[in-house]
Amino acid sequence: MSSSQKPPGSAVPGKKSGKTPRKTRPDPVRRRRFLQRCLGVLGGIGSLMAAYPLIRYIEPPPEAEGSSRVEIDRASVPPGTAMTVIYRGRPTIVVNTSDGYVAFNAVCPHLGCVVKWEGGTRSLVCPCHGGKFGTDGSVQGGPIPAPLTAVELSVTDDKIIIGA
Ligand code: FES
Repeated sequence: MSSSQKPPGSAVPGKKSGKTPRKTRPDPVRRRRFLQRCLGVLGGIGSLMAAYPLIRYIEPPPEAEGSSRVEIDRASVPPGTAMTVIYRGRPTIVVNTSDGYVAFNAVCPHLGCVVKWEGGTRSLVCPCHGGKFGTDGSVQGGPIPAPLTAVELSVTDDKIIIGA
């Protein structure tokens, strides 16, 4: 063997002999799929975070929240008028009819808007779709599936007590 010929497997001084490990390149398709999934998860989380305040705004609070007894002065609800208070976390309308005081959960059974008292027609009217209720809570018009829910009240010399 001549000096210019190298035996098989001989190495150049300073270099390791044998096979060098090949660098594996990440599969671009797998990496793209992984990134798409990450973006999907982040997008979903972002959507939920954005929708939560909207849902809380639309959804009335649970009935159990809030005061279970509300007192108002009788003088603040003269005959033929109404007042809306928050009772158990829900808007509750108290009406002074000619026959006495009545109170209803003011959330419309159709799609949840808050009904208002209309003194001229002596009825409770829903501003969203024109639903109309009598002073007994019964349905008198509009796309309403059920009457208003009555709320218990009692009256003293100077107070109206809702929830008693
Ligand atoms: S929400 Fe009241 S009539 Fe539609």
